[in-house]
Amino acid sequence: MERDLRAKRNKTTARKVVRIAAGKKSIVLGVTGSIAAYKSAELASLLVKQGHDVFVVMTQDATEFISPLTLQTLSKNPVTTSFYDEKESWRPGHIDLADRANLLLIAPATAHIIAELAHGLADHPLAAIALATRAPILLAPAMNGKMWQHPATTENVEKLQTRGVEFIGPEEGMLACGYEGIGRLWKVNDIAFRAEFLLARQDNLIA
Ligand SMILES: Cc1cc2nc3c(=O)[nH]c(=O)nc-3n(C[C@H](O)[C@H](O)[C@H](O)COP(=O)(O)O)c2cc1C
Repeated sequence: MERDLRAKRNKTTARKVVRIAAGKKSIVLGVTGSIAAYKSAELASLLVKQGHDVFVVMTQDATEFISPLTLQTLSKNPVTTSFYDEKESWRPGHIDLADRANLLLIAPATAHIIAELAHGLADHPLAAIALATRAPILLAPAMNGKMWQHPATTENVEKLQTRGVEFIGPEEGMLACGYEGIGRLWKVNDIAFRAEFLLARQDNLIA
């Protein structure tokens, strides 16, 4: 009995050590046009529960998959979908977000946004923020396995990795397109945990 209690206590302590509290940070959460976009709602909610300011930036295609209203409500902040939403101040909103971000997390990240970032394109706010920010960038890809394994995507991913962009996933499993294999968005809890890790790393809390 005593041994069970001790084991339970040790387990709890171990879990506490693993938890990384980076303090309140600003996270720009990019959402792109994948069938997995609905999972960004849970991710936004988790990041807010972790104590962060979350600013969602959606591509036009992402708005076909999940409503900005949902993400605005869960993130408790206005959602950016176009350069021309940005009328709040003299300063372009996307530059403000790029400067304010402690982390740019794109989840799900389509093959298309990965290609855009690899080529430094900037024709919508999310791509422009990726160019303008100096915060760490974490991408959680989701796509059909053949798209993920195509040499064009592989090259784009490698190019981004050499610039310091981090990736989480994709994982294997049943895909919405009917295939089974690599391409599923990584588990949302793990994405939130990796985001926390990158934020804490910036504070030199972890080596
Ligand atoms: C039903 C449906 C599901 C899609 N799912 C994905 C996906 O998971 N990953 C992906 O890379 N593209 C997917 N696409 C294609 C993208 O929506 C398309 O490439 C789009 O141009 C991406 O734009 P964005 O990256 O600006 O959001 C899907 C398209 C449709 C119609």
